[in-house]
Amino acid sequence: MKIFHKKTNLSHHIDRLKADGKSIGFIPTMGALHDGHLSLVNKGLSQNDIVVVSIFVNPTQFDNQEDLVKYPRTLKSDVELLETVSNVLIIVYAPSVKDIYDDNVQSQSFSFDGLEYEMEGAFRDGHFDGVATIVKRLFEIVNADNAYFGEKDFQQLQIIKKLVELNKMHVNVIGCEIHRAEDGLAMSSRNTRLTKNHRAAAPFIYKTLKTAKKKFGTKSAKRITEWVNLEFNKQPLLELEYFIISDVKTLKPVKRKSTKKIYRAFIAVYAGDIRLIDNIALN
Ligand code: PAJ
Repeated sequence: MKIFHKKTNLSHHIDRLKADGKSIGFIPTMGALHDGHLSLVNKGLSQNDIVVVSIFVNPTQFDNQEDLVKYPRTLKSDVELLETVSNVLIIVYAPSVKDIYDDNVQSQSFSFDGLEYEMEGAFRDGHFDGVATIVKRLFEIVNADNAYFGEKDFQQLQIIKKLVELNKMHVNVIGCEIHRAEDGLAMSSRNTRLTKNHRAAAPFIYKTLKTAKKKFGTKSAKRITEWVNLEFNKQPLLELEYFIISDVKTLKPVKRKSTKKIYRAFIAVYAGDIRLIDNIALN
């Protein structure tokens, strides 16, 4: 498998592939790859000649230094996992912090029509400036035709679509369904850091989302939110940070349901020290 650590080498290689008429799919990741990431890689391979996977733990999107330090860095096993999918059709870009940021490890400031202030934006200071900074840079380096993002991070997906629209970038942003463990827990690099007991408790998150979806047909968003809060109060190992039902376009919390709008429920939960997020389409 070809692995690039320097952006100039990667760019030259991609230029050659494009000159040969190859289409390029791109999957940005922070590594610690799991089946959720692989579902994006497989979708990319089904729609492009070559797929570039970037593996980079981006320091500017962490509001919590401890989380940044503890974030798993497993390049060797990540590459081995990707090799089980394809040795020749996947290219890895694993840059150093210096290759991306030089000596200026800072975010740019962005505005995304208010999408950045809701949910994760409200609870994680500067997070989306960091995400947008790295994704914009990666898009410039990789010059892909299509880029794949998981609905697991639905707000991130909407913000990246807005980033591309506002900057008139020539990449097609494609959302991919949430990949789950058999017991329903959304796959995440953070899941490996859960204790045995917290891992056993965590499927309650998706179970609650599914019940919330059932209730959405007949109950108000306010009622459902109250119910979810009560349910989590009964869970000693899980602490609810937020449960919000929002319009997918604006990500603003719903006040009164409209049949013309599309809604999702979004949730963030602490299982011990580990913060887990998930979401579900409601209509
Ligand atoms: P990371 O958390 O590694 O996720 C990389 C991509 O995989 C994201 O688009 C994410 O939504 C998707 N993904 C993660 N778990 C998934 C699951 N269970 N099902 C479907 N897709 C899943 O998201 C990031 O990295 C970073 O913010 C990044 C975009 C790379 C910028 O640094």
